[in-house]
Amino acid sequence: MNQVSKPPATVSIRYMRLSDLEQVQAIDRISFSLPWPSNAFHYELMENKNSLPMIAEFDQSNENKLVVATIILWIVMDEAHIATLAVHPDYRRLGIAQKLLATALLEAIQKGAHQATLEVRSGNQEAQSLYHRFGFKIVGRRPRYYKDNYEDAVIMTRNDMGQQYRDWLQITAQISTARG
Ligand SMILES: CC(C)(COP(=O)(O)OP(=O)(O)OC[C@H]1O[C@@H](n2cnc3c(N)ncnc32)[C@H](O)[C@@H]1OP(=O)(O)O)[C@@H](O)C(=O)NCCC(=O)NCCS
Repeated sequence: MNQVSKPPATVSIRYMRLSDLEQVQAIDRISFSLPWPSNAFHYELMENKNSLPMIAEFDQSNENKLVVATIILWIVMDEAHIATLAVHPDYRRLGIAQKLLATALLEAIQKGAHQATLEVRSGNQEAQSLYHRFGFKIVGRRPRYYKDNYEDAVIMTRNDMGQQYRDWLQITAQISTARG
């Protein structure tokens, strides 16, 4: 496995920019067996008015900033749909997904979302564990949803995004990641 030096470093979250797209697509390709088509992130960034595209950026002293994680939420009426979330394999288990997801959900709530939902592969325990931590519950299943291996999708939803949840998201969004 590729060894990366971690501390001292900071991770910051911001909206995606056009200049991020190459790194965003590379993370998508390395993270998923069915990556998005090459123009999909460009569409999300430039054309989809319901899209909330954000990234996590790793900033190590004396080194260039590096995009290490990406998320896209679609906000439709009062619902935030987590369309994709991925962390570069070299930067996993550092709390980056938690920070990115918490920040994106807070943005979605500000834009009017009252609940959040997503589909995830039934065998993807890592992601399901992350979403459980955020209070998402399995509410349904789409049989043979994924076209590469016909794996089922489970549908996970978080209904209550009231003040207590928002307070928890704020704390989670502010936690230092990468042990920096
Ligand atoms: C799922 C994914 C986004 C998690 O990113 P991450 O930055 O490593 O996650 P975090 O470090 O923020 O972990 C937060 C929590 O998620 C859960 N989790 C994350 N990775 C896990 C793993 N490999 N095994 C078990 N639980 C895991 C844990 O509860 C973890 O908390 P802990 O570290 O205190 O135990 C990342 O593994 C990934 O990009 N996977 C491939 C793409 C993918 O499956 N995306 C989700 C599609 S819906």
